[in-house]
Amino acid sequence: MTLLMCHYHITIIEIREEAELKRSKEYEVTSLDIQTQQEFIEAMRHKNLEEKREKKYIITTYGCQMNEHDSEKLAGMLQTMGYQSTDDKKEADLIIFNTCCVRENAELKVYGNLGALKSLKKNNPDLIITVCGCMMQQPQVVEELKRKYRHVDLVFGTHNLHKFPELLANTLHSENMLVDVWEQEGEIIEGVPVIRKYDIKTFVNIMFGCNNFCTYCIVPYTRGRERSREVADILAEVTDLVQHGTKEITLLGQNVNSYGKTLDGDVTFADLLRELNKVEGIERIRFMTSHPKDLSEDLIDAIATCNKVCEHVHLPFQSGSNAVLKAMNRSYTKEKYLNLVNKLKTRVPNVSLTTDIIVGFPEETEEDFAHTLDIVNQVGFDAAFTFLYSIRQGTPAAKIEAQVEDTVKHERFNRLVERVNEICGIINQGYLDKTVEVLVEGPSKTDPSRLMGRTRQNKLVNFSGDESLIGQLVQVKITDPKTFSLNGELI
Ligand code: 5AD
Ligand code: SF4
Repeated sequence: MTLLMCHYHITIIEIREEAELKRSKEYEVTSLDIQTQQEFIEAMRHKNLEEKREKKYIITTYGCQMNEHDSEKLAGMLQTMGYQSTDDKKEADLIIFNTCCVRENAELKVYGNLGALKSLKKNNPDLIITVCGCMMQQPQVVEELKRKYRHVDLVFGTHNLHKFPELLANTLHSENMLVDVWEQEGEIIEGVPVIRKYDIKTFVNIMFGCNNFCTYCIVPYTRGRERSREVADILAEVTDLVQHGTKEITLLGQNVNSYGKTLDGDVTFADLLRELNKVEGIERIRFMTSHPKDLSEDLIDAIATCNKVCEHVHLPFQSGSNAVLKAMNRSYTKEKYLNLVNKLKTRVPNVSLTTDIIVGFPEETEEDFAHTLDIVNQVGFDAAFTFLYSIRQGTPAAKIEAQVEDTVKHERFNRLVERVNEICGIINQGYLDKTVEVLVEGPSKTDPSRLMGRTRQNKLVNFSGDESLIGQLVQVKITDPKTFSLNGELI
């Protein structure tokens, strides 16, 4: 154990050859901890101001919106400390990988990209390489980093993101790899000193963790148990966002439909939507992800009646086979899913539906897969994220012996993607000559001389218009629908 003197604090850290810092369930983050981080931010800001050169950072984010939002929080803290973002690795003082471990591919990418930084670090020993996020919650990953990636300077997990200023300050003074991974989640931390980017549309966490333990999924082990933020804290954040120009919020949680279960009283996600719908200045409210087992009648009613809640539900079904759904521990059947979809379509006119699908779960037969295709055909999804099943060590499904052969998995996957895209194209063709409301986000990615934005159904629309429209709601007539986007003209 090493004692390290910082500008303001004596901090105890444990380093490379020693055990990682761990926190027990009882550990509570207090306002004192938040104040400590504020002081570290202030100290770093002064330090950076004294240096002639502006310090630069790059954050590479892997995985879901939850990670994207965590990266936004890191960027906010860094900018408050006086760091500027860059796209050029060579001029970076700090490189952060915010990692995902939901599938093996994502992990392999991180290892590959980390390996590629070895020579950069050799040429620039002052470069600070940081790895954080879900992968770090797995002890074998941290061991691998210690063994083979000794050029990494700082490692932390998902539960102590708020401690980043302190960890970074300590890393700058340390010759060794600093590892701080908390085994378990603490309390929800409010008031983290983040100067956030106030964008037109932004994410808002409403809950953390997951209690569902789908048998294929690593998330409950990396993000911890489900816990919801207080309604008042969410309302305060959204009010602040609106005052700074935000028009659209996306409420984030692994399973937003079970929001409120960990709070005192009996507040539900539907109640939260109704409260947020009253916030003046907000134009659109989105949310993800919804678990079919918790999509109540009351929630469908809230989606249907709250005018700011967009007509789009991301409702992963994962598999169409009841046997596979049972083995996945999803707690619903194909029939129940289709029934929910029918209710949504009836109660929420023009609702767009998107989903996640896993192909090749252990023991999946051709008949099981036919049920998956059948759901795709019956529902008509506006988009589907399709995944090849990936074994995650430590999950129950990893222990099932009869894994589906790779060639079979790929063949089914290709058939599924083809059908999903075909249906997407057909749905988008239906928009020809229709006029849609678009929230203008900025220049189009494909042609920066044009603008892009999204409809309430989350369809991407490209059209020509003046930059002064950015941040506004406009009406666009669709003239040329494509499979994954719509082209149109401002009216
Ligand atoms: N293999 C493949 N896909 C997975 N997902 C989660 N775990 C796995 C896994 N082990 C997918 C699910 C989930 C999405 C975020 O990732 O479809 O909804
Ligand atoms: Fe993973 Fe299932 Fe939780 Fe989604 S609901 S994060 S798939 S365990």
